[in-house]
Amino acid sequence: MWLNITKLGWYRESRLSSLFEGRAFFLCLQPISIWILERVIYLKSEILRIKEEALKNLRELESTEALQELKVKILGKKGSLTAMLRQMGSLSPEERPIMGQVVNEVRTRLEQAWEERSAELDAMALQRRLATERIDITLPGTRISRGHIHPLTQVIEEIEDIFLGMGFQIAEGPEIESDYYNFEALNLPKEHPAREMQDSFYITEEILLRTQTSPVQVRTMEKLHPQLPVKIIAPGKVYRNDDDATHSPMFHQVEGLVVDQGIRMSDLKGILLNFSREMFGESREIRLRPSFFPFTEPSAEVDVSCMLCGGSGCRLCKGTGWIEILGSGMVHPKVLEMGGYNPQAVTGFAFGMGVERIAILKYGIEDMRLLFDNDLRFLQQF
Ligand code: DAH
Repeated sequence: MWLNITKLGWYRESRLSSLFEGRAFFLCLQPISIWILERVIYLKSEILRIKEEALKNLRELESTEALQELKVKILGKKGSLTAMLRQMGSLSPEERPIMGQVVNEVRTRLEQAWEERSAELDAMALQRRLATERIDITLPGTRISRGHIHPLTQVIEEIEDIFLGMGFQIAEGPEIESDYYNFEALNLPKEHPAREMQDSFYITEEILLRTQTSPVQVRTMEKLHPQLPVKIIAPGKVYRNDDDATHSPMFHQVEGLVVDQGIRMSDLKGILLNFSREMFGESREIRLRPSFFPFTEPSAEVDVSCMLCGGSGCRLCKGTGWIEILGSGMVHPKVLEMGGYNPQAVTGFAFGMGVERIAILKYGIEDMRLLFDNDLRFLQQF
């Protein structure tokens, strides 16, 4: 640098005064090389001062916004380094490359420092975010409780399984039923006193919510005749105007129907004994008590030996040793006829059981309404 400056020689006075205004007198008394040296040193030290200050500030600042502000303060239109660059215009052709080199070096150095600091700040910000948004994956998750099949549905499925195992098929019928199928086709003409036992929800004179699953008997026979055998069960909802601890306005029944040549009451008994043992235990016995239903002749109420005391008598069986589980009988000839079968050629048996009653007996449930309350504390026990 020193050699370069001393090579420059003398300046003319006019040039000097335009450059340095009030200092011209003083300057022209000196050799120009010395004066240039002084000028360049001054500018250079200014630029280096700006650089050092910028680097110091850069190390101290904490955010990308502050970084941007500092950049504007130094390299912006009114920035300190830009101001130095402006002065370059008034330098001589000999001075310019010297200062140009200094300025470029400083600018490159600063830009590099900016980039480094900017990357550092980004990394710091990321670390901060990672620290605050940290997720502890070792915390236990929220357990989603899984539901299960309602106890009544479980009982229905169990009944179905038992009868499917004995060669029965499953039939269905509508819950909104005609008076014809619900009563008349079952040998219960209008005004029949036995209708009294089933307080019904009528929709019109001829349409009602079915009070029993028995209408599926005739519907199935109509569909299948003259095919033999008919061997079905029909599970489903039924409706009656009853509501207390042992009755619900909606409940479930499973109907059974077997029609073939030579079907006898002993077949009914055998099937029901088998069912009772599979449902309530190997040591169960059954007994048939004479009863009356308009659609069976003869009719029988079926009792099973008490599953709690085994027959010796207890609270559950009210001391009798027997518990009633269903109604049954030999299909009435008129019902066979309504279904399209010839009662001279075929016979059949039928039965109908209440699913809630079976569930109550099987699980020892005290109040039937628990089955419909949807209280999880109750349901989770099954
Ligand atoms: N349907 C009758 C009721 O709800 C139950 C019943 C009795 C069904 C005897 C039958 C039967 O199929 O043969 O009370």
